[in-house]
Amino acid sequence: MSAKVLLVCLGNICRSPAAEGVLRHKARERGVKLTIDSAGTGAWHVGDPPDARMIKAAAKRGYDISYQRARQVEFSDFYEFDYLLAMDLSNHSNLLEMAPPNRSCDIRLFLDFSDGEVRETPDPYYGSGDGFERVLDLIESGADGFLNHVEDESA
Ligand code: 4NP
Repeated sequence: MSAKVLLVCLGNICRSPAAEGVLRHKARERGVKLTIDSAGTGAWHVGDPPDARMIKAAAKRGYDISYQRARQVEFSDFYEFDYLLAMDLSNHSNLLEMAPPNRSCDIRLFLDFSDGEVRETPDPYYGSGDGFERVLDLIESGADGFLNHVEDESA
């Protein structure tokens, strides 16, 4: 059985679309079957493509995220997905507040699966350009760690 994963950030135009693209790419490379989607806790950018700066930074590393469109987290996501993975502590606590008591998903911080010390993927939206490279470094490490976890679970 393949796990279903929803990556969650605030706007669904920077961090979680990048995490979706990186995780999809790495899962395919490693032969791990996953259903992957992303969403935002906020609604400002619903229907928009990812931020042009993130599309460009991801493309430089071989990840095409340009086809993605932002959507907001929905009630059904708490039942549809096995994992809701938040990019920072604020998204994580928002998800826990929204979660129905009988939810069937695990709500975790994405970087809890990474080997690194950093737990949160910082929001690059208002920062200078190098924030996007930093975010991609963290996301690549989180994706590797999450795939290790899924492989361990199914072993
Ligand atoms: P994201 O970044 O949560 O990584 O998609 C943001 C994008 C937009 C906004 C905030 C964060 N915004 O306030 O519009």
